[in-house]
Amino acid sequence: MGADFSQTPEASVGDFFDRVSEDYDQSIRKAIPPYREMLDALLGYCFLGVEKPLRILELGCGTGNLSVLLRALFPNARLTLVDLSPDMLKLAAVKLGAESEQLQLLQGGFMEVSFQPESFDLVISSMALHHLRDAEKPVLYERIFQWLKPGGLFRCADEVLGVPESVHLENMRRWEIWARQNGATEADIQLWSDHAEQYDHYAPLQAHFQWLTTSGFQDVEAYWRNLMWTVFGASRPIEP
Ligand SMILES: C[S@@+](CC[C@H](N)C(=O)[O-])C[C@H]1O[C@@H](n2cnc3c(N)ncnc32)[C@H](O)[C@@H]1O
Repeated sequence: MGADFSQTPEASVGDFFDRVSEDYDQSIRKAIPPYREMLDALLGYCFLGVEKPLRILELGCGTGNLSVLLRALFPNARLTLVDLSPDMLKLAAVKLGAESEQLQLLQGGFMEVSFQPESFDLVISSMALHHLRDAEKPVLYERIFQWLKPGGLFRCADEVLGVPESVHLENMRRWEIWARQNGATEADIQLWSDHAEQYDHYAPLQAHFQWLTTSGFQDVEAYWRNLMWTVFGASRPIEP
């Protein structure tokens, strides 16, 4: 019998993002100095025909910052956006417009939503999967593998755990200095430090690579990194 993830703390993460939704865009840009550069790197490694009628799944769309860039890069794609927080999704809807053939907004947890096998050309996520506990991540990677068409791509920007601990601590020290220089206030630092303590579950990049490989992915690779922020990905082989 598979593990039971029904008691996950997903709901409380959603509550947190409901509470901060109105201030999220401003706060995240200050708290993550390379936010836009990271999203650019994430999109730059999505090697897919930009004019094609692709099907794209975005996990943890938040207020839709990546979704807007995806729509601009892939104007003929059908986007499915998933997020736990109704208030973050509402703000994404404001940026992207009403649901249509080309846009589906789904409120739900990563471990609850399900899709037909081989539905998507691209599954993508930014700054969201680290909210899952480590036991859940390989299970989600197996699901993503199934949701992707053969040859489909998984692309992820996320915070990873520096190893050994001294690397993680130095990353955090440098983050605080950089965020302050970037306009983050004491309140911003406090907000995201408390958030990290309560809701974040960073895993080492090597663990992500191991889970992706075990799930059947190939071409597992990191494309960009700055302190803990890392863009990595993999692809589902064309042949089984
Ligand atoms: C830090 S925000 C990132 C938003 C956006 N992708 C960005 O880059 O700005 C994380 C988002 O993931 C969502 N999220 C976190 N855990 C989730 C889960 N288990 N299932 C669905 N959404 C989740 C949160 O509600 C939040 O909107």
